Amino acid sequence: MTNIDDLISAAREARDNAYAPYSKFSVGAALRTTGGQIYSGCNVENAAYPEGLCAEASAIAAMVRAGEQHIVEAVVLGDGDRLCTPCGGCRQKLREFATDDTPVHVCGPEGLRETMLLGALLPNSFGPEHLK
Ligand code: THU
Repeated sequence: MTNIDDLISAAREARDNAYAPYSKFSVGAALRTTGGQIYSGCNVENAAYPEGLCAEASAIAAMVRAGEQHIVEAVVLGDGDRLCTPCGGCRQKLREFATDDTPVHVCGPEGLRETMLLGALLPNSFGPEHLK
């Protein structure tokens, strides 16, 4: 298991900048890529509610913008007593750039709560290989 403190710090910092005036539920995400870089994102809500963006989606956009496309591990960090697992749409978005074996570390503000594999979060998933 790699040291995920740097990923957690990045997600925490990103979460501090979340724009979540409607749900008041701030989320941060951080991705480590095969290049060893870290990309982070936060949720960005919108007065037209469905136009809001999840933290994972904004981290993925930063990663792709930087020219990287392979996620090695991910952190999702949110508040509350429950595990802040990625929503269904974000599981699919992560799947595009990750594999069944990619760890998703679900964190709270205090740190790691549970690590799950993407394949467990999104079993029998449809991915880019299907279109090749
Ligand atoms: N949210 C995320 O950013 N990621 C998730 O995987 C779960 C939900 C955000 C979306 C919305 O801004 C807020 O959390 C409440 O749903």
